[in-house]
Amino acid sequence: MIDMKDIVALCKRRGFVFPASDIYGGLNGFWDYGPLGTELKNNLRDLWWKAMVTCPPIGPDGTPVEIVGIDSAIIQNPKTWEASGHVGGFSDPMVDCTETKKRYRQDHLVVLTSPKADRWPAFHEETEDGEIEKKLKKLGMPKDVSLFEKVNLTTLDVSDYAKVVAPDVSEPGTLTEPKQFNLMFHTFVGATATEDNKAYLRPETAQGIFLNYKNVLDSSRVKIPFGIAQIGKAYRNEVTPRNFIFRSREFEQMEMEWFCHPDEAEKWHTFWFEERTKFWKSVGLSSDNLIMREHDSDELAHYAKEGLGTSDIEYRFPFTAPGYGELEGIAHRCDFDLKQHQEHSGTKMEYVDPQDPQNRFIPHVIEPAAGLTRGVLALICEAYTVDESRPSGVYLNFHPAIAPKKAAILPLTAKDEHVAPAQKLYLELREEFAIDLDIKQNIGKRYARQDEIGTPYCFTIDNDTIADGTVTVRDRNTMAQERIHIDKVAEYLREKMKPASIEAGAKAA
Ligand code: GAP
Repeated sequence: MIDMKDIVALCKRRGFVFPASDIYGGLNGFWDYGPLGTELKNNLRDLWWKAMVTCPPIGPDGTPVEIVGIDSAIIQNPKTWEASGHVGGFSDPMVDCTETKKRYRQDHLVVLTSPKADRWPAFHEETEDGEIEKKLKKLGMPKDVSLFEKVNLTTLDVSDYAKVVAPDVSEPGTLTEPKQFNLMFHTFVGATATEDNKAYLRPETAQGIFLNYKNVLDSSRVKIPFGIAQIGKAYRNEVTPRNFIFRSREFEQMEMEWFCHPDEAEKWHTFWFEERTKFWKSVGLSSDNLIMREHDSDELAHYAKEGLGTSDIEYRFPFTAPGYGELEGIAHRCDFDLKQHQEHSGTKMEYVDPQDPQNRFIPHVIEPAAGLTRGVLALICEAYTVDESRPSGVYLNFHPAIAPKKAAILPLTAKDEHVAPAQKLYLELREEFAIDLDIKQNIGKRYARQDEIGTPYCFTIDNDTIADGTVTVRDRNTMAQERIHIDKVAEYLREKMKPASIEAGAKAA
């Protein structure tokens, strides 16, 4: 079993992800991306943009679908969030422990109930079984968990809270009634911190798209059905940020709003679900670790209640295994957002068919909404491969198109006869690929470093290079070596990066 601690340690050691404000002890829920993490994130971002905007999929009619991109402001007129429902509804019910002052999401607490017991221990849903038994022992209760029924706190009546022993305390009755806690960060626009100047950091990129739906329609030649895509930061004051970058307070989303005729929403919902699943496989996530899940009716967001609901693409992260965690949701938002903005702003959001002006309607929206930073975590978890036979003990099996560095050029020694051709090759290749030129240390240590950062190919320059112009190519996964001519290196790499090999769905073999 892969331990998340090892993944987090590698990410810090090799410069993928650091705790934000590390030198001041960090800030819970905030992360910085280091040199390699930034490259990795940019690669995923660029492949998504290509798959959605510059080279979108072929639609059911055999021609490419039409999607345009935008980049909207993070802070918008606060009326946006009233109209979208986020001011009134974007909140989690929370309970406080009056003794420890800790705050919990109500749906994250599990309670062991028993009609025979007058105290019902509660613990966080992620508490390991051994810990639960320890707590039972501490409370002087039978250690056998099977004597109790495990229920979610949300299913208990508030009057039963008097019996509940909160996590980290030993007496019952310290949990408060649930309170709504709005997840939006706010700030003030202008010089004074008054209620009139209050504004919000966007909790999703989607609303920037709805605000610009009319502008895009009026300024470009798009016709229904079409999509508007956006990638960018989103902010949520999550109550329990956790699992590394999985749930953070500042993160990035890749969202696309697909505007279509209401009668065609179901067809497009299925289409986008299939396309998005293909995408995640194409960047290297294995089918075994991906599942599709329909949201239960009580989980649906306010905008999805009337429609076809939401289907999630979920990934088996090490901390959710054997279960899965959400990677992307494909929601049917109906005409909820456009109607709300029409009502709150007074701007008409109706679409008029250019061929038939009698045909007017407010489009329905299918929304594939993915986490970019959460996608980066899935890619790292998927790539993390333990191999005790090699010096690094571990390597990152990224697909070449995703890998932060596509290749490393390694002169066998630091002598000029090896370094000069290595530098020449590096200068040629860097025009086209992200390449590492690594001169120092023995070759074994350099291979180990490249394995740990997931570089698929290492090209070594040695005496044979001087004699016959060939270089050694070392494959990261198999560690097999072959010799190719130095003039063929660029072509070799080009072949490996080809999207065709991505579409085959697998990581580099
Ligand atoms: N516009 C719809 C929307 O925002 P969402 O399910 O709340 O839907 C979409 O978010 C995706 O954004 C999620 O599937 C997840 O990948 C990512 N995401 C949401 N909250 C996140 C958080 N706190 N940290 C990291 N990623 C998050």
